[in-house]
Amino acid sequence: MIEVSHITKIYKVEKKDRKKDKKAEKVAVKDLSFTANNGEIFCLLGPNGAGKTTTLRCIATLLRQTEGSITVEGFDTVKDADDVRRNIAFLTNEIKLDDFFTPDYLFDYFGKLRGIEKSVLAERKKELFSYLGINEFADKRIKELSTGMKQKTAIAVSLVHDPKVVIFDEPTNGLDIITARLVTDYLKKLRDDGKVVIVSTHIMSEAERLGDRVAFIINGGCAFCGEFSEIYEQTGTDNLEDAFFAMYKEITEGAENADH
Ligand SMILES: Nc1ncnc2c1ncn2[C@@H]1O[C@H](COP(=O)(O)OP(=O)(O)OP(=O)(O)O)[C@@H](O)[C@H]1O
Ligand SMILES: [Mg+2]
Repeated sequence: MIEVSHITKIYKVEKKDRKKDKKAEKVAVKDLSFTANNGEIFCLLGPNGAGKTTTLRCIATLLRQTEGSITVEGFDTVKDADDVRRNIAFLTNEIKLDDFFTPDYLFDYFGKLRGIEKSVLAERKKELFSYLGINEFADKRIKELSTGMKQKTAIAVSLVHDPKVVIFDEPTNGLDIITARLVTDYLKKLRDDGKVVIVSTHIMSEAERLGDRVAFIINGGCAFCGEFSEIYEQTGTDNLEDAFFAMYKEITEGAENADH
């Protein structure tokens, strides 16, 4: 389970990166709370710059929130960061696999780093590589691979230790529909295995098809968190895109009125 409780993340913007009229601080996430449970896919939805990646990076212990707290499987992301890391897979949209190595080598390398026994590692590789269709390019260097091939490799490597919690930031970014479907089907399998799966996306149809519950993040805050039926009821719509626009309009108009 992931419990995000009233987190705020303020980035300090260094002087050299600041334009004349820009402030020294950027509030990326504002008083955000939600819970993602085992056996569900929780979707963070929101426009560009809403704060999705920032939130996921805080959950994955790569960033420290300015205020509030997060627990992952009961471990605090600040006090018990190592325990959190042991339990999670984190996939970022900036793939950072070294060009020089092959998927096969990288999988074994990260497996060893995680202390996984040889036979268990071989089994996991067999399952993940065959499911994701990696075998045909397992011995090619990363620099020779396409975006989709790299993404599949990154997904396999991130899951090497069979973690309980899966945190994927825009997992289908840059993938064709066949590969994207393969990835989302695998996320469903992980959910059905009882894992907590949290993904960010701005593709409404993907969230609709994939998610069990959703949080709409707008301007760093949570505009809605719950089940699809609730959001449709609340906004008087029958699809996520219309629900999003209804909510977005309400929030931005509300903010404008407060300014006057
Ligand atoms: N290191 C940083 N320093 C200053 N501001 C940052 C930094 N990283 C992100 N931001 C700002 O924080 C806000 C939230 O960014 P974030 O990357 O979390 O959004 P996002 O919802 O993931 O967007 P996208 O859909 O484009 O990936 C944005 O306004 C962004 O410009
Ligand atoms: Mg992002």
